[in-house]
Amino acid sequence: MRALDIITTKRNGLPLTKEQIDWFVQGYTHGAIEDYHATALLMSIFFRGMSRQEIHHFTMALVESGEQMNLSHLTAYAVDKHSSGGVGDKTSLIVMPMVAALGIPVAKMSGRGLGHTGGTLDKMESIPNFRTNLTMQEYHELGQRIGLVLAGQTQDLAPADGKLYALRDVTATVDSIPLIASSIMSKKIAGGAQGIVLDVKVGNGAFMPTVERGVELAEIMVEIGVDCGRDVTAIISDMNQPLGTKVGNALEVIESIETLQGYGADDLVEHCVEIATQMVILADRSVGHYPNEQAIREAVLATLHNGQALHKFSEMVEAQGGDVETLTDFSRFPTATLQHTLVAERGGHVQQVSARDIGEASVRLGAGRAVKGASIDPSVGFDVHVKVGDPVQQGQPLLTIHANDPRLLDETLHALQSAFVIVDEPTDKLPKIHRVIRSVDMAS
Ligand code: URA
Repeated sequence: MRALDIITTKRNGLPLTKEQIDWFVQGYTHGAIEDYHATALLMSIFFRGMSRQEIHHFTMALVESGEQMNLSHLTAYAVDKHSSGGVGDKTSLIVMPMVAALGIPVAKMSGRGLGHTGGTLDKMESIPNFRTNLTMQEYHELGQRIGLVLAGQTQDLAPADGKLYALRDVTATVDSIPLIASSIMSKKIAGGAQGIVLDVKVGNGAFMPTVERGVELAEIMVEIGVDCGRDVTAIISDMNQPLGTKVGNALEVIESIETLQGYGADDLVEHCVEIATQMVILADRSVGHYPNEQAIREAVLATLHNGQALHKFSEMVEAQGGDVETLTDFSRFPTATLQHTLVAERGGHVQQVSARDIGEASVRLGAGRAVKGASIDPSVGFDVHVKVGDPVQQGQPLLTIHANDPRLLDETLHALQSAFVIVDEPTDKLPKIHRVIRSVDMAS
């Protein structure tokens, strides 16, 4: 086989065979295929797309490029979740202990922030001494002992995806639905999950701008699940305004703890209950512990009010070396030295709280990375005081900035001038969940 022939086939819009895909992905992983060949193939895929069968073969080639985790010592049916990335999206921190509190083990590998969206690892590392660089032995041992473990993704999991993703990042080929879908699903499948809940965010703060694009991505990921023998539920959720009330690493962990204590913001609680419910529905299919979906929903919500989810979270923090005192004493978190509150210049109704503007401002403030590998400031971020649809009075606080550098604080204030829009007439609240797409409803 020759790379040139495979590129030509795709460039001409013809389908690739499993053998061609396997040969190319393996060759690229082991350095036998050059970056310029891989770039040409990625760009051809970007313009020509891939059929369902090609996407299946491509995903499996990524999975088989490295280690495949086996979680059967933890549970006969492992569930996982994945978010396509949002602003103020601390869902994993809350949902993982909720599900684990119901006796369903959760072993999760997470990533760092990407662009204007935050990452679970960065957030959890704002807990002093919390370790995410676990050995495989620790990962499995903690999963078994606590029923809840969180680690950084190992280099051995879908290494072809790691290499191709880095190349896509610098060759304008990230934004391709078949490539995004296969990239996300390969890591979930290699991570050992049988049931996968995908939180596909749509809106100005998400990578998918519209519900239509989100549904397209979700349907392809659900199809990959069906073709790879996995159960997948995709939730299309709104990301036009930040989720919950805080954005920033330590601030989001504090909000997660408050939510686990039963004091969460309505939108965040509703969202977390939905994701956790869908995870438990998948895990319970072969067990039949709950009579129906409503019973699952109630059990999931109860974990926030009976202390069980908070207890699981605390067990995980302690087992991974973190300072558990932070759970009762938020002053132990890294804290910013400067605070400034932006207030409404006029009264009216909130029409926009731009998640994109706030996410980008958080990166500028130091909560995210402008370049790969840069360090982050765990203490900076925002309290967001209003939601779309809220009535406001002149002078009412809209957002509080937590910063350490006066120059960055000024820049952030300037950048956020147009993030909030207030109008005279009443405005509708934003929808939270647009659609739920389940593999069980989809014929293979
Ligand atoms: N996240 C991934 O893991 N892969 C993509 O291609 C895009 C987002």
